[in-house]
Amino acid sequence: MSVKLHIKNNHAGADTFPSTAESEPVFTISIEKYRQAAERYPDLAAQLEVFVDWDTEHWIESMRDAEILLTWDLPTANLASVAPRLKWIHCIGAGVEHLYPMDWLPDGVTITNNKGAHAAKAGEYALMAVLMLHNRMPEILTHQRGARWKSLFSTPIEGKTVGLVGVGSIGGGAAAQLAKMPVRIIGVSRHGRPHPQVPEMVAYDRLDEVLPRMDYIFVSLPSTPETRGLFDSRRLQSLKPGAGIVNVGRGAIFDYDALANLLASGHLSGAIVDVFDEEPLPADSPLWSAPNFVITPHVSADDGDSYVPITLQLFFDNLRRYLSGQPLENVVRPDLGY
Ligand code: OXD
Repeated sequence: MSVKLHIKNNHAGADTFPSTAESEPVFTISIEKYRQAAERYPDLAAQLEVFVDWDTEHWIESMRDAEILLTWDLPTANLASVAPRLKWIHCIGAGVEHLYPMDWLPDGVTITNNKGAHAAKAGEYALMAVLMLHNRMPEILTHQRGARWKSLFSTPIEGKTVGLVGVGSIGGGAAAQLAKMPVRIIGVSRHGRPHPQVPEMVAYDRLDEVLPRMDYIFVSLPSTPETRGLFDSRRLQSLKPGAGIVNVGRGAIFDYDALANLLASGHLSGAIVDVFDEEPLPADSPLWSAPNFVITPHVSADDGDSYVPITLQLFFDNLRRYLSGQPLENVVRPDLGY
């Protein structure tokens, strides 16, 4: 007997994900992309019956007998009666804060996330961003906007300290790239467990102790009750004068207004920020013109060539576990928020 997989793609729209027309093909799991991935897992694919949908066009009819759902989001109302056979939801994002609070989750349904899909791309972005900060690119770009030729020099990066706040798969990808440079790396994670690429790891409770040692801080935290507002005005003021920030986690972790003020005052040297509470960032946001504040439009970790193939690879590897009754990888813990 086959297992029914429902794949829910979203058409781009301002109130949904993906939010821009150009991101839609990056995240769409078309039947062609599914088949390409399935060719590498013929034994598993043979056990699936697949239905690829858009938005909620065939939600009610298809979910009646679906056991697995591959999606970014879903209509959560009455899920147990709409999808009585559902056992597993794989979210195609790493962040799952849009599914909170998970009080709608029926008993016996497991949610997994896409942890691991972003590491390679986000690692390269981290390397680029830290080198940009060190080479004073945020200031140089600010001068460019004002047609000012100002010679801003910088040293080779040797001896600088880079802090990774969040050392999951994205932070790990960043560590792998940054380790190519003669910098010291300090990692901060919930448990502070040792990490092969991070010589010094500490737990969150030592964050305030290690932050002032960091020249550049790369933040890749999920948005959870514990991390929201972590970089508030007080903590940002405690950073080393001249420090630079990269945020690829979630906008909610930072007070961006306080960050922009500290950049304008010169206490901090630059910020490169990929994530915002409201995306797309509204055209009238003052952050667009904040000095030394570089904005990238949530592109640090995803790309049209590899995102769906890696997602499907993670999915099929987990499907093997699912079908043989093994525990799944990347299980989201509703109590922790990621
Ligand atoms: C995600 C992302 O997958 O932000 O959550 O890219």
